[in-house]
Amino acid sequence: MRHIESGYIASDIVRSKGVLVAMPGNVVELRSKFKMIDKPWSPHIVAEFNGLHVKLAKAHGEFLWHTHEETDEVFLVHRGSVEIQMRNRPSAHLSAGDLFVVPAGLEHRPVADAECEILLIEPAETPNTGDAATATAEVWI
Ligand code: NI
Repeated sequence: MRHIESGYIASDIVRSKGVLVAMPGNVVELRSKFKMIDKPWSPHIVAEFNGLHVKLAKAHGEFLWHTHEETDEVFLVHRGSVEIQMRNRPSAHLSAGDLFVVPAGLEHRPVADAECEILLIEPAETPNTGDAATATAEVWI
């Protein structure tokens, strides 16, 4: 395997319109990808399909309250547990293997007492804070 950029391995990716894209048909090893993430609330992209990004993030502590006005947000818990707090609704308590969709326009805040690994699916360019000005820059791993 040949490293073509820091963090990227040539066999894992192809370039499409200048953007690095997980190669369809390649296995993405989530356990090894999660090991590359060293801080919470920092989504990293591992695949793209049909205009959607599959992202991995570690959750630990409280994220900020935020809203994605136009897009639903899929949470799949890989390891640990996380509470999805929602404005004017009961929280969703998710454990490893649980899937939850936060509806577009609903204010929410993920909270994890201990480190938790989550997979997110949402349209490319969706800011993780709901606001491009405050969003975390998302990189491919
Ligand atoms: Ni969100």
